[in-house]
Amino acid sequence: MNRRKPSTTALDQTRAPYFQVLLDYVDAGVIPFHTPGHKQGIGMDRAFRDFVGDNVLAIDLTQIRGLDDLLQPEEALVEAQDLAAACFGAEQSFFLINGSTSGNQCMMMTALNPGDKLALPRNSHKSSMGGLIMSGATPVWMQPEVDEALHMDHTITPATVRATLEREPDVKAIYIVSPTYYGVAADLEAIAAIAHEHNIPLLVDEAWGPHFHFHPALPLSAMQAGADMCINSTHKMLGSLSQTAMLHVQGKRIRVDRLKAVYKLFLSTSPNLVLVASLDVARRQMAIEGPALLSRTIEIASDARTRLNEIPRVYCFGEELEGRPGVFDIDPTKITITVKDLGYTGYEAEEILRRRYNVQVELADLFNVVALYTIGTTTEASDLLIHGVRELAREDRPVDIFSPSGVLERRMNTGTYKLPSIPPIRLVPRDAFLADTELVPFKTSAGRICSEVITPYPPGIPVISPGEEITPEIIAYLSLEKRAGVRMQGPYDDDLKFIRVVR
Ligand SMILES: Cc1ncc(COP(=O)(O)O)c(C=O)c1O
Repeated sequence: MNRRKPSTTALDQTRAPYFQVLLDYVDAGVIPFHTPGHKQGIGMDRAFRDFVGDNVLAIDLTQIRGLDDLLQPEEALVEAQDLAAACFGAEQSFFLINGSTSGNQCMMMTALNPGDKLALPRNSHKSSMGGLIMSGATPVWMQPEVDEALHMDHTITPATVRATLEREPDVKAIYIVSPTYYGVAADLEAIAAIAHEHNIPLLVDEAWGPHFHFHPALPLSAMQAGADMCINSTHKMLGSLSQTAMLHVQGKRIRVDRLKAVYKLFLSTSPNLVLVASLDVARRQMAIEGPALLSRTIEIASDARTRLNEIPRVYCFGEELEGRPGVFDIDPTKITITVKDLGYTGYEAEEILRRRYNVQVELADLFNVVALYTIGTTTEASDLLIHGVRELAREDRPVDIFSPSGVLERRMNTGTYKLPSIPPIRLVPRDAFLADTELVPFKTSAGRICSEVITPYPPGIPVISPGEEITPEIIAYLSLEKRAGVRMQGPYDDDLKFIRVVR
């Protein structure tokens, strides 16, 4: 793997120009006859105001004179986004205030026209389906490498990308998710080279890797690997507020005029400026302190991985997986705790950790729970997680917490549990999503064309999408996930007794 890291930039990264203009506005004591209606807190519910404090409300402003306009930046926001681009190794960066969700939509709407083919992994986040529906593109699914032992998908290999392009030479862009939710990174350099040989762009959903650019022990960032466009959920792994993200672009394969037009479609005319300023300061923090903060995070996470692996029947994968198909590199700050051999599902482990030890993990699936270690994770918090897992693994654990679901346990242990294969595509997602539909009983829906996205959440990866034929295998898989207590996102009927299909 390649772990080159950026050189420092010529711009003054100690500045936070957008945060500064908000502070200057407050300092100037301007009398506000503009939105928002709470007028810097005066009209805000008292209990809320007392809790969040006056300062955050004072900078909850709107884009009036001097505060620039995210839709048409001309002043401080130009500098703030230029600083971000330099810091994250891009040519241009765009601040997003509707997460990487809107970033995925922007990337696809920019790179694709209706009917264009996009090669993308089956384990793409459900927000990519929004991009497909909006752009009218046709998916060419690529099968990520499946890890049966850990029951998870890894990334797409360069060989899969090459084979896909040989089979479907009219694909207009490659879209890769790297890293995965579990912190496994793809060989983006090799994939970028293949895409560029075909003269098509590489788009990367790097929602989980905004920190990669700032430390040599982390995988190569998408921009450094040569991707044309990528998204970073800075709110997930760095210090910016929830909902914030960045879209980065470089090179000549992406039409930046089109990107700017699309970006405006997705943006409110009243962006929350507190969110925007939090992007500005998160960038400054990374530019100045990123390597040191991440060194500490990696140290805490590595220590936790070692200690968790000492607990009998608990496994946290690490570098030993590198080199397996689809595992090019590993993000050490993501800790996947495989609890299968304890006789628990990940869902049960998540609930027990929360109920008994007041520890909340990021994600649970059938075999695993995932704990995120970030620049905000302390050694004390890490110790409490490890204590909870150690208790969970005790042979003499209290009976009241031992409640594995019999069906699942049997299936897991006999290996009859299998991820469903990709169903046949009968319609373009956009056409199926917008078609006339009807609700039919889920159990007997095999053979019908699905018109909704059904996503067990987390991890947020669709099992079936609009335009695909419902297969008996998918019905069996989703029924199993449902019985395990997984929350389904997307279906009209939350209980999945009924499913919406094309009439
Ligand atoms: C791989 C991936 N892409 C995109 C998203 C959407 O990101 P956001 O929550 O920032 O909108 C997620 C969310 O979990 C994700 O896991």
